[in-house]
Amino acid sequence: MRKQFLFLTVAAVVSAQGFAADWDAAYTKAKTALGKLSQNDRLAIVSGIGWGKGPCAGNTGAATSIGFRSLCLQDGPLGVRGASSVTAFPPGVQAASTWDRALMRDRGKGIGQQSKALGVNVILGPVAGPLGKIPNGGRNWEGFGSDPYLCGVAMEQTVGGIQEGGAQACAKHYIGNEQEKERDTVNSVIDDRTLHELYLWPFAEAVRANVASIMCSYNKVGGKWACESQQMMDAILKKELGYKGYVVTDWDAQHTTVDSANAGLDMTMPGSSYGGTLNVLWGNNMLGNAVKNSQVSQGRLDDMVTRILASWYLTKQDSGYPATAINQNTNNGGPNVQGNGATNAKLVARDGIVLLKNLANVLPLKAPKSIAIIGSHAVANPKGINSCVDMGCNTGALTMGWGSGSASLPYLSSPADAITTRAKKSGTTITTSTSDSTSAGASAAQNAEIAIVFITADSGEGYITVETNAGDRNNLEAWHSGADLVKAVAAINKNTIVVIHSVGPIILESFVDLGNVKAIVWAGLPGQESGNALVEILWGDASPSGKLPYTIAKQQRDYGTNLQSGTDSFSEGLFIDYRYLDKNNIAPRFEFGFGLSYTTFNYSSLAITSTATSGPATGNIVPGGISSLFDIVATVTMTLSNSGAVSGAEVAQLYLGFPSSAPSTPVRQLRGFQKTLVAGGASTTVKFELRRKDLSYWDASGKRWVLPAGNFKVEVGASSKDLRLSGSIVVT
Ligand code: NOJ
Repeated sequence: MRKQFLFLTVAAVVSAQGFAADWDAAYTKAKTALGKLSQNDRLAIVSGIGWGKGPCAGNTGAATSIGFRSLCLQDGPLGVRGASSVTAFPPGVQAASTWDRALMRDRGKGIGQQSKALGVNVILGPVAGPLGKIPNGGRNWEGFGSDPYLCGVAMEQTVGGIQEGGAQACAKHYIGNEQEKERDTVNSVIDDRTLHELYLWPFAEAVRANVASIMCSYNKVGGKWACESQQMMDAILKKELGYKGYVVTDWDAQHTTVDSANAGLDMTMPGSSYGGTLNVLWGNNMLGNAVKNSQVSQGRLDDMVTRILASWYLTKQDSGYPATAINQNTNNGGPNVQGNGATNAKLVARDGIVLLKNLANVLPLKAPKSIAIIGSHAVANPKGINSCVDMGCNTGALTMGWGSGSASLPYLSSPADAITTRAKKSGTTITTSTSDSTSAGASAAQNAEIAIVFITADSGEGYITVETNAGDRNNLEAWHSGADLVKAVAAINKNTIVVIHSVGPIILESFVDLGNVKAIVWAGLPGQESGNALVEILWGDASPSGKLPYTIAKQQRDYGTNLQSGTDSFSEGLFIDYRYLDKNNIAPRFEFGFGLSYTTFNYSSLAITSTATSGPATGNIVPGGISSLFDIVATVTMTLSNSGAVSGAEVAQLYLGFPSSAPSTPVRQLRGFQKTLVAGGASTTVKFELRRKDLSYWDASGKRWVLPAGNFKVEVGASSKDLRLSGSIVVT
C-alpha cells in the first residue's frame, strides 16, 4: 500500500459555512448501533423495499431497535420531485452560470431545508455527471457546466448547503455517464488522467464537502458496470478520496448480488425491478445467502450498514427528523414548505442571465413607447404549468429540462406576464404574438419600438422522448424554428432583442450578427421565477452578471465530441469544451466564461506570491484525497475597478497554463474565480487562492498528483478569451 493512501480518521471538519461534519463521532455511533442489529436488520438497511412499496422513489428497510426508520430517498437536484408546494429552483446549470458561491450555497440550503421539512432523508442531487462533454447530452442542464473546477465549486457549495439544511445530499451519477443514448449499456472507457482531471474532480470536491451519499451510474466504466466497479467505488472513491459515506445504485443499475457487494456497493435501489419483484439482487434471500455462503463477507455487509448509519448520524437525522409527508403512490405532494426559497430562486435565475450582445445600449430599456412580445415560449404552457409529466414537453415558457431531475412548479412568473406588468408602470404599450409563426411575429413587431423574441432548446432524461429528442438533443438548433422567427422579426424591427431559454448551447450563427438584432439575452433555465428575474435585467434594476458555463460554438462539430454507440473511448481526453477549441485554434462564437454587463471593468495590479514546490502530493488521506492537495500554495491578487457609472458584479476568472514538464496539458484551465459587486467608479481587491491540487496534474503511471516544475502562466480576465492580466508562478 502506498504511503499516501494510508487511511487516517479525521476529526471534525467544518466546511466553509457551517456544516459541521464529525465523521469520527458519526462512526462511533454507527458502530455501537451496528452491534444492536440483527442480520435481518442489516440486510434491510442496505436494500430498498421495492418500487412503489414506500412513499418515495427509494425507501430502505427500517431497524426499529435503533430507531432507524425507513429512509426516504427522493429526487431531485433542483427541488423535491413529486411535491406539490416546494420551490422549483433554477437547475444546476443556471446556478453555475451565476458563478456565485453564496447563491449556490443558499440554493443548496433551500433544497435541503425543504427536503427535511417533507421528511425526505436523502435528496438525489447534486449532479456532476454528466459533466457535459457532449453539448447535446440530455441531462447536462442538471449539472454545473462543462468545466470540472466550476462544477467542483458548485458541488462543494451545493452539498454543503443541502446538508446544512438537514438532508443528505447524493452526488450523482458516478461516473462517465455523459449521454442518454444507450445509457444502460454504454461502456465509458476513460484514461486515468482524464478521469482524475475532469470527471472525478467534482466528485472529489463533493467528498471534500462531506457528501453523505453517492449514486453509481447505469453505464459501464472500463468494461465494468459502474455499480460493480471495484476500481471506481472502492479503490478510487473510498480509498483514494477517503469517502466515508455510502454508494447507492441508480435505480435498477445493479447487475449482480455478489460482485456489486464485493466491489464496494453499499445500498441498492429501489430494491426490486420497476415491475415489482421484491429484492431482486439483495435483501434476505440474495445478499443474506451470499453472506451465509461466504461469497460476501460479514465484514463487507457490516461496512455497508456502518456507512449508511454514519451518514444518518452525520446529518443528525437520528432524532427529530420530520415524518415523510409526500407519497408518490397516492399523489400526495405534501404541505407548502417553500419558505423563502423564492428569494434565492429569483436571484439565481437573474444573476445566471448572460448578456451576449448589446448594441447601441438598447438594454437596459428606457421606458419605450411600445414593446412586442413574440413567441410561444414567452407565455406559460396554456395547458397548465405542470401539465406535462416530469416536464416532458417543450410547450410555453421553458424553466427546466425534463425527467427525474425536474420538479413541479408551485407557480410561474412567465416572461410575458412579468414584462407586461413592468411595462405598465412606464406607460409602455404591449402587443403579443404567442405563436412561433413568423408572419404573426413580424406583424406584431412591425410598429413596436422594441421587439422581444423568445426561443428555446430543451432536453432531458431518456425515458421520455420529446418531439423526437430521446433525452439527448438531436442537434444544437433552436426548437420550433426559433432562428426563423428571430430573422423574421429582425427583418422588420430594428430593436430586436432575443431572449433564449436553453438547456445548453445552441448555434446562433444565422442571426447573431444581424444589425437589427440589437441584444441577445441568454436566460438559461430560470425555474419558477423566470419573468421576475428577466425584467430586473431588461430594465436594469440589476446589471447582468452571469457568465457562460460552457462554450457557444459556431457549429456543433467545433466541440469535437459526439453521442456514441456501444463504447465511448473518451478519445478527446482532457480536451472538452474550451480546452478543445483552444487546442485546435477554433474561434468560438461566445467563449466559456463570457458575459457582458451594463458597466465596464478594469483589471490591474496583478500580484502573485507562491510557496509551491514541485513533486508529488504527500500526506494523509482526508475526505477529498491527500491532505496536502488542499494546501494553499499560491495567492493571486488584483484590482478590479468599475469604470462605468452603474453598479455591477464581475466574475474575475483565473486560468492556469501548465509548464511544459507536465505532459500535454490544455492551453489554459480555470483554476479560480471570484464574483464581486462593485459600485460605479469604485475599485476593490480580488484575491484568488490556489491549492496544490489546482497546480497539479494526474501522473497516470505513478498514480499520483504531481506539481510540475517550471513556469506556470497565470492569466486573469473577464472570460477564457478576454484575458486582461498575466503573470507567472515559477516552481522549482
Ligand atoms: C434514474 C435517474 O438516473 C436518477 O437520476 C434518479 O435519481 C433515479 N432514476 C430515481 O428517480
